[in-house]
Amino acid sequence: MVGKIYGTGSYVPPRVMDNDDLAKIVDTNDEWIRERTGIGRRHIIEEETTSYMAGQAAMKAVEMSGIDPAEIDLILLATSSSETVFPCAACEVQKAIGAVNAAGYDMNAACTGFVLAFNTAQAYISAGFCRTALVIGADSMSNLVDWTDRGTCILFGDGAGAVLLRAEEGEPVYMEAHSDGAKGAALTGLSRHRKGWTGAQEDKESYIHMDGQGVFKFAVRKVPEIIEEVLAKADMSLDEIDYFVLHQANRRIIEAVAKRLKTDISKFPMNLEEYANTSAATVPILLDEMNRKGMFRKGQKIMLSGFGAGLTWAASLFQW
Ligand code: COA
Repeated sequence: MVGKIYGTGSYVPPRVMDNDDLAKIVDTNDEWIRERTGIGRRHIIEEETTSYMAGQAAMKAVEMSGIDPAEIDLILLATSSSETVFPCAACEVQKAIGAVNAAGYDMNAACTGFVLAFNTAQAYISAGFCRTALVIGADSMSNLVDWTDRGTCILFGDGAGAVLLRAEEGEPVYMEAHSDGAKGAALTGLSRHRKGWTGAQEDKESYIHMDGQGVFKFAVRKVPEIIEEVLAKADMSLDEIDYFVLHQANRRIIEAVAKRLKTDISKFPMNLEEYANTSAATVPILLDEMNRKGMFRKGQKIMLSGFGAGLTWAASLFQW
């Protein structure tokens, strides 16, 4: 059995912050940001929370699927920015959508989180542990960035995306994942909850710190590698893939990956100009946009790939 996508959904907050708005906060400008990243705008939460956005995206995916929420057995929510440590955001989504029979938990692998959650749900389904799974990526990056650091605050946005999977007979899903904890310092988001019981440990701020060029090089090297690994497992060639749906961090990263793979950039859809990097949410938001535009046909081969803090990277190849 494999998990077929029965529904997709996404949610971004209505408040938009464009590059000119950012230029009023830090020393930057629209031209620099567009040229280096491809980003034009980002959507930023006001009153919304990560679990609220996740719930909204989930509702749309469930609605599209036509499946009764009571039939969902599993909710996996990839996030690194839940408003609560517990209850987990997946349980908040369960409550919001009335998925009374589901088990749910959060997974944190930063920007790679959704692809890992998707692969985990596929593994549950193929093992027969569940039949209907909701996989969500949701992040409120605006709560984590340092709004005085022009090197990072320009890159991120907030949002959520979801897919509803239902077990069916079908071609296997091929997947691969890696981590390199030794290089974790390249991209860190420190926790706010650091005070030990003695009070001796200092409270740290929750800002993102990043070696931008290090992360850029890592992504450009590792994403093509993992895509080739998955293709080898599937015994398929690059030109059999209809779409490469990559984590939307930076247009130049995606262009460099396409170039390394000697594959036309038109197979690499992008929406980061509008949303920036919404971390675990980028891949499912893009899947939902493509689905609602009618871009998918039954039998098409779709390659997902996520990469980010950890360092972590993952890929998944499935047939629509
Ligand atoms: N606006 C204007 N100038 C800026 C700026 C900004 N927002 N941010 C940095 N600069 C300046 C730097 O201070 C530096 O100035 P200097 O030469 O006078 O010292 C110059 O621009 C070049 O900075 P650098 O950091 O070398 O730029 P870059 O070409 O590496 O681009 C990133 C920076 C962050 C856009 C790029 O490294 C990147 O996208 N990396 C990947 C990050 C990422 O995607 N992370 C998430 C992965 S999940």
